[in-house]
Amino acid sequence: MNQFEFDGEKYRQASKHQKEWGNKLISELNLLGDEEVLDLGCGDGALTEQIAILVPNGNVVGIDASIGMIRVAQKLKQPNLSFVCADINDIEYENRFDIVFSNAALHWVKNHKKLLKSSLKALKRGGCITWNFGANGNCENFCDIVKTVMKSPIYRNHFFDFEWPWYMPLEDDYNALIKSVGFSESEISYENADRYFENSDEMIKWIDQPCLVPFLKILPNDKKEDFRNMVVKIMIDRTKQPNGKCFETFRRLNVKAIK
Ligand SMILES: C[S@@+](CC[C@H](N)C(=O)[O-])C[C@H]1O[C@@H](n2cnc3c(N)ncnc32)[C@H](O)[C@@H]1O
Repeated sequence: MNQFEFDGEKYRQASKHQKEWGNKLISELNLLGDEEVLDLGCGDGALTEQIAILVPNGNVVGIDASIGMIRVAQKLKQPNLSFVCADINDIEYENRFDIVFSNAALHWVKNHKKLLKSSLKALKRGGCITWNFGANGNCENFCDIVKTVMKSPIYRNHFFDFEWPWYMPLEDDYNALIKSVGFSESEISYENADRYFENSDEMIKWIDQPCLVPFLKILPNDKKEDFRNMVVKIMIDRTKQPNGKCFETFRRLNVKAIK
């Protein structure tokens, strides 16, 4: 697996915004209570558990590549809820799920043609995908600042071969992609979910988990802390408002499609 390790407990404390989007996405599922649901990139499992409670006669499987996330998720106990540590790129389910759900995870997956095909295969006929993930323009401040710090003379050699961790497509490009895959219906919408962190501490928690994880993974131990502190300082200088709140752009794609 080529994935990143996260701290599930810290993520739980830092994921207020993700949980807000996830709750909205769950409310749009129109559940009957007996669905089989797959949650891609389930993270700490909090949303996966909520879905399990809403489908008492169905089953919910959460998958995530991070052992640190799965360990935290596995503490959640529902009779119809299970978690698997696996890479989304490797899923091989067939005609098994009514819903493939995913919140705030699929911008970490680069090959969406493969992902859409494997999700289509995983669905029963009439089943649907319901996804929300980062779109073009997402986290503009963080992305710009981390790119600048990566290019500074102290760090640039370490990032020479670095693969940018996220895929955040334009709505039109994603529309064309999903139409090429074979769903019977699809609907893509772009959402401006820009928001303020209540204060810089709240923003720093989000910078630490999950944003900085792929960048710190590359750096030797003696350079991690300074890199992190530099990104944090510039983020605060740039985004902190007179009332103490910190602004960031959050642009999302909502993807719904039926097999
Ligand atoms: C920001 S968290 C979202 C967690 C949860 N869905 C939520 O909304 O709170 C993104 C998650 O996607 C997982 N992830 C990213 N790429 C993955 C991959 N290729 N396979 C499995 N999980 C992946 C990460 O490990 C992380 O837990």
